[in-house]
Amino acid sequence: MDHKTGWEGMEPIKRAELVDVDSIPFLKNTADNWQRLWAFKARPNDLLICTYPKAGQLSPSGVSGLEQAETIPSPRTLKSHLPVQLLSPSFWEQNCKIIYVARNAKDNAVSYFHFYHMNKGMPEPGNWDEFLENFLAGKLAWGSWFDHVCGWWEAKDRHPILYLFYEDMKEDPAREIQKVAQFLGLQLPDPVVNQIVQHTMFENMKLNPKTNYSSVPSLVFDQTVSPFMRKGTVGDWKEHFTVAQSERFDDACERLLGGSNLIFRTQL
Ligand code: A3P
Repeated sequence: MDHKTGWEGMEPIKRAELVDVDSIPFLKNTADNWQRLWAFKARPNDLLICTYPKAGQLSPSGVSGLEQAETIPSPRTLKSHLPVQLLSPSFWEQNCKIIYVARNAKDNAVSYFHFYHMNKGMPEPGNWDEFLENFLAGKLAWGSWFDHVCGWWEAKDRHPILYLFYEDMKEDPAREIQKVAQFLGLQLPDPVVNQIVQHTMFENMKLNPKTNYSSVPSLVFDQTVSPFMRKGTVGDWKEHFTVAQSERFDDACERLLGGSNLIFRTQL
């Protein structure tokens, strides 16, 4: 039996350009839909999962896409890459619970670089050095990693936000799943936690068609360039950064995160 995916007969797509909204660069399509995004109506029992792109948002799976989000029944799990100041005010008005996941800048940059390459809807990534300069300057889609992680970090003191780290999830997934359960007011028996650990393990998610994006055609996600579920480790940056690039990132982190008590681990 034929299964229609909606992608049949699709033409090769053009790489997007970036368009600023409130001085933050977005993919043109997102910027064009800005009024609708800003006016999005949250519901009190929505759970929102936010990350800077490529911080491991897929692990807690959710829905993206405005139309889909508007039509699905409650309770909804939604996901977003928006910086805190550009999140629709409705989420604050409804006092929605939000889980933010942050990942260290170096691994995040590596993952984003591969994603820019394989996702033909992203702008041209340039070479590795150029990409890192754009990362540090906040000139990539969804803006500055530094502003993103700091903005959400500050917001967590005023709103029901659970702030998690990718590195902690890799270190002890059961512990982090329990944090999520507690935040959501759930009591999870150990066998259920263990099942979640199994289902969300990188190796299993890489094989799972519901999480490995194999249904997205290669004209959009070219997984021969880089698989969507690529490596899923902490410290892969060491395979990519020169000593000078690493020092530049360390300096930037000290300068831009120094004022907060936000600390990232770049290895386990
Ligand atoms: P790498 O490119 O370093 O492998 P997002 O889901 O926000 O797009 O982020 C993708 C990054 O998170 C990729 O990083 C991907 O491999 C990693 N990732 C996704 N699911 C994961 C999991 N269950 N365990 C570890 N890493 C995961």
